[in-house]
Amino acid sequence: MEFETRVIHGGQEADSRTGAVVPPIYAVSTYKQDGVGGLREGYEYSRSANPTRDALQASLASLENGARGLAFASGLAAEDTLLRTVCRPGDHVVIPGDAYGGTYRLFARVLERWGLDYTPVAQQDLGEVRKAIRETTRIVWCETPTNPLLNVADITALAGIARDAGAHLVVDNTFASPALQRPLELGADIVVHSTTKYLGGHSDVVGGALVTSDAELGEQLAYHQNAMGSVAGPFDAWLVLRGIKTLAVRMDRHCDNAERIVGYLSEHKKVASVLYPGLDTHPGHEIAAKQMSRFGGMVSFRAAGGAEQAIEICNRAKLFVLAESLGGVESLIEHPGQMTHLSAAGSALEVPADLVRLSVGIETVDDLLADLEQALG
Ligand SMILES: Cc1ncc(COP(=O)(O)O)c(C=O)c1O
Repeated sequence: MEFETRVIHGGQEADSRTGAVVPPIYAVSTYKQDGVGGLREGYEYSRSANPTRDALQASLASLENGARGLAFASGLAAEDTLLRTVCRPGDHVVIPGDAYGGTYRLFARVLERWGLDYTPVAQQDLGEVRKAIRETTRIVWCETPTNPLLNVADITALAGIARDAGAHLVVDNTFASPALQRPLELGADIVVHSTTKYLGGHSDVVGGALVTSDAELGEQLAYHQNAMGSVAGPFDAWLVLRGIKTLAVRMDRHCDNAERIVGYLSEHKKVASVLYPGLDTHPGHEIAAKQMSRFGGMVSFRAAGGAEQAIEICNRAKLFVLAESLGGVESLIEHPGQMTHLSAAGSALEVPADLVRLSVGIETVDDLLADLEQALG
């Protein structure tokens, strides 16, 4: 099945008892046993398995072309489960030189205390990635495009480096979504998502996902998902599943609108530079064109008037809602330095203070352009 069909049907059949065409919300914690150990279809307790979460997990595996999908309470819960499944205290991870601030915080403030070492590296420079590898490196962690600087890393090349080092390549695919980029097909071992973003698509749920092409690793991750307990609840799983059904059409419109906005901002005198992998002046454009079908709905730009002007633009926007998060149908604007990436302040992952990030929604693009025009002044 092609991707546009898989988002609707992948891993999903009509409910076996009633024929309901979408998976019902199984709001249940425990299941009647037909005699001790007589489980019906394997269901025992909803931390271990729940039919609504199972439907989402099957859909996630299908979208990323993986062997196993797992759904979590948030993107960070998925990341934590993955890291504590694959790594042990004393191990080492190569992380991106720019990444979502919360991912950085997980390494720097939580897992470092547990004994997990990490090295931030600008992953556009493959030589630097190779240099950062140690004997104890278990994971090369990649985010592409990155949040919020839209840097691009070469997934195929990083997969080769990780393989040579006996490490796993993890790709956070939140910004692109599987509609535009499928890292497992390019050699990655595990894909991470904040399903809060494009997969959910409506800013009404927080969730996370892991998908792997390795069935045995999938089994270990599933064991830890149950043992650590940060699972997606049934209602949240259902919301993400509902969002996924329109992922393909939404992403088309996000990309169309983002391209128009990039064209507008590129010409604006109050904009010093536009960061978007679709621009042929973007240093990662060729790699992005090779591994993504389009360039996504996330656009960042640097204000010519510096930090003060960047904040002023964010405060003046009306239709672009001033808010954290991204990937919903509505357009959002934010100042990463003081909002989503505040936890990286003072670190190697600090973001420029004149940066503005847009999550371009699927509204009529002329309305979005008019709002930017008044906000830029
Ligand atoms: C690229 C990326 N990865 C991971 C996360 C963490 O996901 P969550 O907020 O669902 O825990 C985010 C959240 O913004 C993100 O942007």
